[in-house]
Amino acid sequence: MEHLNQTSLDAIARIIEQHQNKAGPVKLILHDIQRECGYIPVEALPMIASACHKPVAEIYGVVSFYAQFSLKPKGRHILSICMGTACYVKGAQALIAKFQALTNAELNQTSADGLFSLDTTRCLGACGLAPVAVLDGVVYADAIHNPNLEFKIRELMHEHEMKTQGEQNA
Ligand code: FES
Repeated sequence: MEHLNQTSLDAIARIIEQHQNKAGPVKLILHDIQRECGYIPVEALPMIASACHKPVAEIYGVVSFYAQFSLKPKGRHILSICMGTACYVKGAQALIAKFQALTNAELNQTSADGLFSLDTTRCLGACGLAPVAVLDGVVYADAIHNPNLEFKIRELMHEHEMKTQGEQNA
């Protein structure tokens, strides 16, 4: 089991307390922990289970079922490629190959520099815009031909490089 620092444990406890008496608290809690920590630490599962009076296995089941939750730390930026039927037909596989090469992240993994996680998602309900990709919550239509997505990724890589160089020279 991993060991979270006290700050993270306090943040998780605070989130649980905020939501535990609401209707359907588990997803609300998981959503906020994912946003706060960037993933769902394993240590959070028994805390949520105890507060919501549910078995740990049930909490684990929710985390595993929804693609938006991850038990592993995610990259600083999350690129999700829609693999619904319309997006698949319109080139989602080519989109994955293109952005695997660009970000150096394997599918459902995080790049070695921790900058990008490359995920897939089910239909986002925007099939008319296929193939669709979502970068940090921003939807990119016709992502295979959309220069803005590649531009944004290159910009984030450049910013990261500048920041890393600055830290090395400091
Ligand atoms: S299949 Fe991708 S948005 Fe519907």
